[in-house]
Formats: sequence, C-alpha cells, structure tokens
Amino acid sequence: MAILKILQYPDERLHKIARNVMQVNEATRKLVSDLAETMYAAPGVGLAATQVDVHERIIVVDISETHNQLKVFINPEIIARSGISDCEEGCLSVPGIYETVTRAEKITARALNEKGEAFTLNAEGLLAVCIQHEMDHLVGKVFVEYLSQLKQNRIRAKLKKRLRETM
Ligand code: NI
Repeated sequence: MAILKILQYPDERLHKIARNVMQVNEATRKLVSDLAETMYAAPGVGLAATQVDVHERIIVVDISETHNQLKVFINPEIIARSGISDCEEGCLSVPGIYETVTRAEKITARALNEKGEAFTLNAEGLLAVCIQHEMDHLVGKVFVEYLSQLKQNRIRAKLKKRLRETM
C-alpha cells in the first residue's frame, strides 16, 4: 500500500472527467487500497481517484470514527434521490475551507465493489452527502463550485497564497 499525493485546488487536473473501469482486477484493488490508505492518513471521510490524478470512476468512503467501515464504489451511479439537505463540507483537495452545500438528503447508489460484484446501497445523512461529494469529483466538479463566483475567487486566491507561502 502507498500514500498517494492529493491534488490541491485549483489544480486543473481536478476538472478531468473519469472513465469507467472496464475490468475490476488486481490493479484496481491496488488502487483501491492506496486510496483508502491515503484517505485514512489525511485523515478524511472520502476520496475519489480523480484527487490522486487517476481518472477512473472509483471512490472510497468511510464515515466511521473507527476507520473500519470502508465502502468502495467502482463505476458508481445514483439511481434515486430524495429530499434536500444542507451540510457543511470540506475536501482534502481544498484544505481548510468549509462551506455549506445543498444536496439530496437520501440517495440510492449502484456500483461495483472491489471484487467486481454489483451492489445497491441506500444512504442518508453524512454518508449520502459524502457519496455525492466524491461522485462529483469523478465528473471534474469540486464542492466549492456550488458557491458564488465571488466566494470561489476568494477561496482560489487564499489557496494560491497559501501554496506560495509553503514553497
Ligand atoms: Ni472532495
């Protein structure tokens, strides 16, 4: 296993569109375990392959405090959604920024697990928010892009300044 480098907003590569995984194999499982290790080390509750510059439709999520309830979604789709929930979100690619985003309160997701088996999951609350947030990464969308242009410009300037200071 390895800890991978997480792309930092506003890196253009965060806007790439991920492709479907054609075959779930050993290489996929290696990537999944690296994604999980990187997420736990950060620490974070979710990570998309896009964030480590691998443009395949894979996300990992674990909202447990004990870090032992890893959920892996390969080629995820949301097949049903209902309700509205406002939740404060953060992102490992946008460190130190927390903003409220409106999303569906409940979702039904369909995906493949790391063995290549199809499953369906009903999620609500933080888990539902997290899955939606991570799936956005796969289509090149970062959560701050739900905010006003003014706010986005402020966040961009702040992160660029911080990046300069740490170089
Ligand atoms: Ni994120």
